[in-house]
Amino acid sequence: MDLRDRTFVVGGASRGIGHAIAAELVRAGARAVMVSRSAEAVEAAAAELGGRATPVAGDIADPGAPDRIREAVGERLDGIVVNSGGPPLGHALDISDEDWRFSYELLIGGPLRLLRALVPLLGDGGAILFVTSSSVRQPITGLDTSNVLRPGVAALAKVLARDLGPRGIRVNSIAPGRIDTDRLRGNDEARAAREGREVDDVRRDSASQIPLRRYGEPEEMARVAAFLLSGDASYVSGAAIQVDGGLVTAVP
Ligand SMILES: NC(=O)c1ccc[n+]([C@@H]2O[C@H](COP(=O)([O-])OP(=O)(O)OC[C@H]3O[C@@H](n4cnc5c(N)ncnc54)[C@H](OP(=O)(O)O)[C@@H]3O)[C@@H](O)[C@H]2O)c1
Repeated sequence: MDLRDRTFVVGGASRGIGHAIAAELVRAGARAVMVSRSAEAVEAAAAELGGRATPVAGDIADPGAPDRIREAVGERLDGIVVNSGGPPLGHALDISDEDWRFSYELLIGGPLRLLRALVPLLGDGGAILFVTSSSVRQPITGLDTSNVLRPGVAALAKVLARDLGPRGIRVNSIAPGRIDTDRLRGNDEARAAREGREVDDVRRDSASQIPLRRYGEPEEMARVAAFLLSGDASYVSGAAIQVDGGLVTAVP
């Protein structure tokens, strides 16, 4: 893929989907500026990927983070992966105002500030990729922060594709279904505790609802992400790609 010597900022990169994307980019010869809240975790993750990975400790919801990330990037940037941890579980009317505000900052406010700081560094051929969720197409029971706010993120990707297209910058999103990461394991454990069941039983049940009958691997997200960030996807913009083993049954 056309990624060699390009530089990407990857959010939420110490583990899970973000880490797999950073690893895939580095494997393809790119440089990755990896961001997560825990300095220790992101430094260890970057060290594992070698000299083309640079760690930056920062909380995407923190208004001070974009400047620190921009400093770590230097002059040249080719793409941005907007990704972090997931928002809190819960049903709409039970979620506190504080958790709603936190979820907004995590999914929309923080990403907007990050893009304001970094988009000026992108030139013709630049690419932005949002990691969203299957909730952009179909609500997930018990995850209403995501069900309400993620469709807004998908809309943000669309309006940015419109606004940045004339500068040659492409904007897309990928929507994971159930990818086997700490986040998903935590959600399965919470459900098992709530329902008084074994975690393995919850996982089997959950996987059985997916047409491919299994959870996805972070690397399966990363390969799609790398394609969308590369010049090989030069005419793909404004697209929302599901990577979900067929989980979302909505048409189209
Ligand atoms: N896994 C799935 O099946 C699935 C499904 C649908 C949607 N998603 C979404 O995809 C995204 C990635 O999920 P994942 O499963 O890879 O999650 P994960 O395993 O929990 O990993 C999250 C990563 O983001 C970092 N992070 C968390 N909060 C952050 C913040 N405020 N600022 C910067 N970095 C932050 C974490 O490191 P630190 O803790 O050090 O910050 C970690 O590196 C999430 O938004 C999630 O909701 C995932």
